Amino acid sequence: MKDIDWGSLGFGYVQTDKRFVANFKDGAWDEGALVDDPMVTMSECAGVLQYAQTCFEGLKAYRTEDGRIVTFRPDLNAARMADSCRRLEMPVFPEDKWVEAVVETIKANIDFVPPYGSGATLYIRPYMFGINPVIGVKPANDYQFRVFCTPVGPYFKGGVKPITIRVSDFDRAAPNGTGHIKAGLNYAMSLHAIVDAHNQGFAENMYLDPKTRTKVEETGGANFIFITKDGTLVTPKSDSILPSITRRSLCVVAEKYLGMKVEHREVFFDEIKDFAECGLCGTAAVISPVGKVVDHGNEICFPAGMEEMGPWTKKLYDTLTGIQMGRLEAPEGWLVEIK
Ligand code: PLP
Ligand code: COI
Repeated sequence: MKDIDWGSLGFGYVQTDKRFVANFKDGAWDEGALVDDPMVTMSECAGVLQYAQTCFEGLKAYRTEDGRIVTFRPDLNAARMADSCRRLEMPVFPEDKWVEAVVETIKANIDFVPPYGSGATLYIRPYMFGINPVIGVKPANDYQFRVFCTPVGPYFKGGVKPITIRVSDFDRAAPNGTGHIKAGLNYAMSLHAIVDAHNQGFAENMYLDPKTRTKVEETGGANFIFITKDGTLVTPKSDSILPSITRRSLCVVAEKYLGMKVEHREVFFDEIKDFAECGLCGTAAVISPVGKVVDHGNEICFPAGMEEMGPWTKKLYDTLTGIQMGRLEAPEGWLVEIK
């Protein structure tokens, strides 16, 4: 294992040894290979630089209690990236090869997988972009698909302490736009809003649906979970939010492991004051409890408070991370072992 102070890692980039690179040219993908060079060289007029033709994914590898290295549901990331590519007029990198590229990249950087119990994990970032010169507004002809990985600590400072967020006046997605895919452009849209939120002392933005601004959507990098006072897990449904793999997994965990009722439905902003617990979920965030939502000065405080995760959120967190770290039995196909 590398000599890294794993416990003090934040969510940042650490250059690792190898990355996977494949090129799409003349209508076909090459085999791809692991390379040493972390730099990307491209035309000044590359499609990604001019018209932001790029999408990405994020998943993690974990060391389990019994010393295995696993990654979590990579097939779902492969499928979601294929959806992103189709929406952005980019060529799909075949899903089975996509998972292989992720596995090979983890293997090639195995000494960067943080130790069990350190609080850190290996974050894997597959991404694709238009690479040839494009000046008229149209899709590129040539693309590069890359996978790198970097060891990371918690996404939110303070780890799992409840955060305060605000309702954003900016939108991150448009009705009938690209909110449901992992396009770089969605994150560019959110940068001003997140800097502004941080400047005002908030950890994140709660985005409302861009059409009516009455329904809860998601944050810049995670889906919402809510728990009712009688212990039902409620998750917002919308065409303009990213279908989080963590959220979909938590719905299974809630129902099958914890015996909770689960509802995936539209959630009106007006009803959130009645929930007992609120959290953000995603690969980077895992589950981050939300203690308070501020809507233009009006504070909505969840009964679980600002000191600790609420009891249901904690159960969901412990069960999900228990599965990911090999302490609890995973549903069939959820863990892919790196050997
Ligand atoms: N929503 C957005 C906008 C995201 O960027 C992410 C991160 O991937 C998520 C939700 C959570 O998705 P997942 O659980 O698949 O990581
Ligand atoms: C993730 O959770 O993987 C994300 O992509 C969120 C953020 C880092 C963009």
